[in-house]
Amino acid sequence: MYKELQAEIESLVIDERNFVTNASNFAALLFSKLEDVSWIGFYLLSSDVLLIGPYQGKPACIRLHKNKGVCWASVNQRDVIKVDNVHEFPSHIVCDAEANSEIVIPLIKNGVIYGVLDLDSHSLNRFTDDDSTHLKKLTDTLVNASDMQAIGKFYGKTY
Ligand code: SME
Repeated sequence: MYKELQAEIESLVIDERNFVTNASNFAALLFSKLEDVSWIGFYLLSSDVLLIGPYQGKPACIRLHKNKGVCWASVNQRDVIKVDNVHEFPSHIVCDAEANSEIVIPLIKNGVIYGVLDLDSHSLNRFTDDDSTHLKKLTDTLVNASDMQAIGKFYGKTY
């Protein structure tokens, strides 16, 4: 399944460098193909908050304040964070009371971090190490194909 998704993402981004455009199709494709995912979307670094970007699912938290929650943990550690049970993650930020597990992938290009991709599920233990590996690869394809410097300037903050 990830092999097909990888090919579909590559064809979606091949002719376009605008990150918001590519990220919108990325979120829509993954939301339509991945099972048991209740929310998928991007949070982008802007003046010390993570600001909501293109997503699929119910409306969610607009701003994630610095150093709280799973998304900021991913920014700070510059790594994928997989949470099997969000209720056991000390500073988890609740956007959807029904969410039980989560995975967050940092958006890094040339050593600069621009934000994260966040996926939620209503099931416990939804995400596996295989998801982690493949979602990172898909996200890397997205950021490598997109003009991240432009989005960094627009949002005004990168690390
Ligand atoms: N749970 C995230 C907040 C974003 S929502 O899940 C869409 C966090 O703790 O950072």
